[in-house]
Amino acid sequence: TFSEAEKAAISSLAAKISPHADDFGAEALDRMFLSYPQTKTYFSHFDLSAGSKDLRSHGGKIVKAIGNAAQHVDDLDHALSSLSDLHAQKLRVDPGNFRLLSHSIQVALAAHFPGEFNAVAQAAWDKFLSAVSSVLVSKYR
Ligand code: HEM
Repeated sequence: TFSEAEKAAISSLAAKISPHADDFGAEALDRMFLSYPQTKTYFSHFDLSAGSKDLRSHGGKIVKAIGNAAQHVDDLDHALSSLSDLHAQKLRVDPGNFRLLSHSIQVALAAHFPGEFNAVAQAAWDKFLSAVSSVLVSKYR
């Protein structure tokens, strides 16, 4: 469960990235691919050059899903149910990759919001993205 302070830190930054979902998401993906090149294997059908149409489109989808999750932090299982089915049953992304994307998202937050993304906000986002990730990997078997 999330405290009111954690919820505030999550929703405030989620609201700030949502108007720039494509750009922010593409940046997070680019950071993940540069730092952890093995993650590129899931996206061999994409143009993975920085700022490509594919990265912006997919990045936008990720940020929108995060924005939706941020509005349902107390009910993530339900809010992310179909995405959970997709990642577990269709995509079969190795669960270890979720922490790599979560980290890349946090680096992008730190780069763009150095004041607001302080230690308290970082702890809240780390907890939030871990919770999102655990729902997305919950249906693997
Ligand atoms: C697809 C969200 C983590 C690989 C998607 C979609 C969303 C999404 C919204 C599009 C679903 C649709 O089109 O209906 C997320 C979120 C994540 C996450 C919120 C964690 C915070 C990951 C990770 C990987 C990954 C760690 C692999 C490294 C994929 C792939 C697709 C996909 C390969 C399909 C892309 C395509 O062909 O269009 N994800 N994802 N996801 N995701 Fe994730």
